[in-house]
Amino acid sequence: MSFKVTVQPSQHEFTVEEGQSVLDGALAAGIVLPYSCRNGACSTCKGRVVAGSYDAGASPAQILSPEDLEQGYTLFCQARPSSDLTIEAHEIRMASDIQIRKMPARVMGLEQAAGDVMIVKLQLPAADPFRYYPGQYIEFILKDGRRRSYSMATPPSENNLVELHIRHTPGGVFTDHVFGAGETQMKLREILRVEGPFGSFFLREDNQKPLVFVSSGTGFAPIKAIVERMMANGDRRPATLYWGGRRPADLYMHELALQWTKDLPGFSYVPVVSEALPEDGWTGRKGFVHQAVLQDIPDLSGHQVYACGAPVMVESARRDFIQLNGLPEDEFFADAFTTQAHAAD
Ligand SMILES: Cc1cc2nc3c(=O)[nH]c(=O)nc-3n(C[C@H](O)[C@H](O)[C@H](O)COP(=O)(O)OP(=O)(O)OC[C@H]3O[C@@H](n4cnc5c(N)ncnc54)[C@H](O)[C@@H]3O)c2cc1C
Ligand code: FES
Repeated sequence: MSFKVTVQPSQHEFTVEEGQSVLDGALAAGIVLPYSCRNGACSTCKGRVVAGSYDAGASPAQILSPEDLEQGYTLFCQARPSSDLTIEAHEIRMASDIQIRKMPARVMGLEQAAGDVMIVKLQLPAADPFRYYPGQYIEFILKDGRRRSYSMATPPSENNLVELHIRHTPGGVFTDHVFGAGETQMKLREILRVEGPFGSFFLREDNQKPLVFVSSGTGFAPIKAIVERMMANGDRRPATLYWGGRRPADLYMHELALQWTKDLPGFSYVPVVSEALPEDGWTGRKGFVHQAVLQDIPDLSGHQVYACGAPVMVESARRDFIQLNGLPEDEFFADAFTTQAHAAD
C-alpha cells in the first residue's frame, strides 16, 4: 500500500510506501525537505501535518515543545503515513540529478590528525562520479545494518576520493573500529559499504550575506568542504570561521584555517579554546565557541550562520543567535553530530 503526500505551499506531490518515512519518500522522489540526522534526534526536519493520519514515532514527544506538538508539528524523518497527507514544509531547491546511492568504499588513507581525530580517505567506485553538495554527509552501513554518519571534508573530486574527519568516541561501535580500540582495527584497503549523499547542510548560493561558520571539533569537516568550494568558485563573500575545541590540539587543522585567511580575501578565523591548560601556552580566545560569536557580532540580523558539531553547541547557537542577537530563524543552518546509538535501523 502507498500514500500520496502533498507539500504546501509548492503543491508538489510524492508517494510514500507503507512503513516508509515521509522524508525517505520525498528524497526517493527527488524532493528535498530540510533534514540532518535522519534518526529523530536533531529536529531539522520539523514540519506541520495539515491533513491526514500518520504514526509520529516516539521522537517528537521527546524533542519538540508541547506547543509545537499541539500545532501539529512532527518530524518528517520519523512520521509514517497511514492515509494520504498534506504537509507544510520548505522545499530546498537543489540539483535533482544528485542521486542517493549505496556503494562500496575502499579505505585509502588513515592519518591521525590529533589524539582522537582520524583523517580517513575513501575511494568510491571510479566509474560513476559521486556528486554531492559540500557540507553533506555519507552513512556507513555496518554489517549488522546499523548506520553511522560522517560529513565529507572535501568537495567532490574527479577521482571520487572522499575525505572524512572521524573523532573517537570511546566505547562507540564504529569509532572503536576506526581507532583500533575494539576487537579489530580499520585497515588500509578495507572495503566498507556506504550510502549517500545525505543532508541539507550546504551553502545557500542565492544571497550575498556575510557568513559565520561555527564548528566544534570535527564539525570543522563539512565547513572545510564548503570553504574549499568557495575558494574554487571564487566566492568572495565575507566569511568568519569560529572553531572551538577544549584544548588547542582539538583544532587539528589550525594551520590550514590560518592559511585560508591569506588565500581567501574577506575570510577570517577565530580559534576558541574552552579548557586550555597552562602547558598549552594558549594566548588566543577562551570560552565557548558560540559565545565568542555572540560577543563579536551583537547584531546578526544581516548574517547567515552555518553551525556544525556537538549537539549542545549547535542548540545553544541556534537559541542564542536568534533570541539574543537577532539572527533570522531561516538563516541558521546546522548539522548536529547526534549519536545514532539508539536509533532504529
Ligand atoms: C549528520 C551527522 C554527521 C556527522 N558527521 C560526523 C563527522 O564528520 N565526524 C565525526 O567525528 N562524527 C560525526 N557524526 C557523529 C557520528 O555519526 C557518530 O555518532 C559518532 O562517530 C559515534 O559513533 P560510534 O559508533 O563510535 O559510537 P556509538 O556506538 O554510536 O556510541 C555513541 C555514544 O553512545 C554511547 N552508547 C552506545 N550505546 C549505548 C547504550 N546502549 N546506552 C548508553 N550509551 C550508549 C557510547 O558509549 C558513546 O558514548 C555525525 C553525526 C550526524 C548525525
Ligand atoms: S530529527 Fe529528523 S532529520 Fe534530525
